[in-house]
Amino acid sequence: LSQVINALPRGRIAFVGAGHVGATAAYAIMLRALFEEIVMIDSNSSLAEAEAEDLADANALARPARIWAGSYADAAGAQIAVLTAGAAAKGSEDRLSLGSRSAVIVADCVRQLEEAGFEGVLVIASNPVDLMTLVAMRSTGLRQTQVIGTGTLLDSSRLRQSLATSLSISSGAIHGYVLGEHGDSEVAAFSTLRIGGQSLKSFVGDGTSFDAETVAAKVRDAGYRIVAGKGYTSFGIATAIVRICEAITRDENAVLPVSVWLDRAYGFSNICLSMPCVIGRTGIQHILFPDLDAGEETALRASAEKLTNALRKLDLPAIGRRS
Ligand SMILES: NC(=O)c1ccc[n+]([C@@H]2O[C@H](COP(=O)([O-])OP(=O)(O)OC[C@H]3O[C@@H](n4cnc5c(N)ncnc54)[C@H](O)[C@@H]3O)[C@@H](O)[C@H]2O)c1
Repeated sequence: LSQVINALPRGRIAFVGAGHVGATAAYAIMLRALFEEIVMIDSNSSLAEAEAEDLADANALARPARIWAGSYADAAGAQIAVLTAGAAAKGSEDRLSLGSRSAVIVADCVRQLEEAGFEGVLVIASNPVDLMTLVAMRSTGLRQTQVIGTGTLLDSSRLRQSLATSLSISSGAIHGYVLGEHGDSEVAAFSTLRIGGQSLKSFVGDGTSFDAETVAAKVRDAGYRIVAGKGYTSFGIATAIVRICEAITRDENAVLPVSVWLDRAYGFSNICLSMPCVIGRTGIQHILFPDLDAGEETALRASAEKLTNALRKLDLPAIGRRS
């Protein structure tokens, strides 16, 4: 796999889905000058062309990149393909209810990528992202480690940001994870939080009242609040996509919580959900299993069970070719 991926031109990234998330992520990637070539693909070709032209205008004032609206054939040589095509939630619609609509789109896009000869790392943002990561995995011959769902990287960032504000500490100095489903059953694993090596409990001290449940609920419901106000979310997820792509293209071996295929972990198997993962050029290098307290482990199992049940409701045999 390393040989195949090392042979790909380093400089190309493809976005399949040029909607709010795809266009915003492409813009952020362009400003960070992470890739020399950015190709935008969408079934709405006028949209892909307009976004590519707008991005190319912006690129005149940034580090030069070649940006165009292309086809799956153009994605064949990409190091990374980011999938943001899918059904988007409206109002208070939860992510799992998008499952069947998104699964058909994701399976179709991934098959077209494969038919074109794509061999790089596939980053999935389409919701419900844990199920769509599994659908993507089952729809291709790529290895499981080459398919990464954005998962709870966004939720973990929201948690760190929320704590940064309430504790007056830089978010970069707060380490910790939201695990499990990217959605209503996600698990804010407070026992994993460290600030300067101290646990959250020890940092906050006995005298201060700190309501972990309120913080977790605020993080969990952030997507709904933002969708209620602006109709979609874009900057947070786009930046999570950029961070994953950066870890891949720079072969960082960064540890990020992302949705990954798990087998026989915490008592569940054959499911994708978020755990901290080491991410480098070929995708997932290792999955890490933090020590959780008993309540968090129970909540993680419940999250996996919820995803397993939702998965059963998708018509996967018709979609996927892997068991
Ligand atoms: N993982 C996360 O944290 C997160 C956050 C926000 C949004 N999302 C998800 O990302 C996806 C995109 O959201 P958005 O706001 O950009 O939606 P959007 O409707 O703006 O964009 C989706 C795009 O996909 C395109 N598309 C649909 N079917 C296609 C196909 N078969 N081939 C190619 N393109 C196709 C559409 O034309 C559209 O441009 C949704 O599934 C949404 O739920 C995920």
